[in-house]
Amino acid sequence: MYSNIHAAVVGSINMDLILNMEKVPQAGENLLGTSYSYANGGKGANQAIGLSRLGADTKLIGKVANDANGQKLLQNLRNNNVDVSGVSLAGSQTGLAAIMLDGEGRNRIVVYEGANAEINPVEAAQCIKDELDLLLVQFETREEVVVQCVNRAIEKQIITVIDCGPAKPFALEKMHGATIITPNESETKMLTGIFPSDENTILESSKVLMERSKSKFIVLKLGDRGCSVWDGKDLRIMSAYPSKVVDTTAAGDCFTAAMALEFKRSGDIHAACDIGNKAGSIAVSRMGAEASMPTVKEILDFA
Ligand code: RIB
Repeated sequence: MYSNIHAAVVGSINMDLILNMEKVPQAGENLLGTSYSYANGGKGANQAIGLSRLGADTKLIGKVANDANGQKLLQNLRNNNVDVSGVSLAGSQTGLAAIMLDGEGRNRIVVYEGANAEINPVEAAQCIKDELDLLLVQFETREEVVVQCVNRAIEKQIITVIDCGPAKPFALEKMHGATIITPNESETKMLTGIFPSDENTILESSKVLMERSKSKFIVLKLGDRGCSVWDGKDLRIMSAYPSKVVDTTAAGDCFTAAMALEFKRSGDIHAACDIGNKAGSIAVSRMGAEASMPTVKEILDFA
């Protein structure tokens, strides 16, 4: 379905340390956790694996350090058929995400960016070649990296999808004209000052995002409420598919990858968001980041 699509992701590669606990501690509180594990992660790597698992020809552009985590993460990307010729070694430590996961599958994440901070904006942008169909970026790399890569892709008329995670202030005005910009609820609040809690605030915040980014479509990821699509004329809120939540980590990455591929295939933003919603619902029912990413068959069988 997506095997003829050439996609690139410029983004982060992290080792995730997942600490499971019934409830997360308050400031000054000490609690016992129930277990911990390490998993492959990073928003860039997750989205690259998401694309590749759905069949796209996928290249990742990023950095890891020459340490044990870096080697493991690179090997894992290769095992998932991601082209890592654009991933080079830099810095003394590979990125690390400390993830606190509570009994209801909700997470809190702190990222040490490590090698991800060493991505050179000019070098990364040079990897955006004419033959690409699709570029995905996130905000887990330096702002200049995102800006230069997105602008180069826009110049080349490549479909460009900006995932706004993690929440941080960002000069959206520096990259006018991407295809889709897709923040989650807290990222929307960070970028617009408006929390998208109901139809009015979804519309208001979408309008601010469109004004700031001049993107073609604003797709808000609304957690268990699904997502919304604003094209400058119509707002559509598309409900999530019911699912038993085990771990919400990387559900947004999964949504973005699946939505982007379907948009490239069909050119239909609503069909794309429907596929994204299905992929996201599958992702929350599974533990870990990369392990959440479904195949095309799983998405098609899901409904
Ligand atoms: O989006 C989920 C990801 O965010 C995790 O894999 C973690 O590495 C953080 O980057």
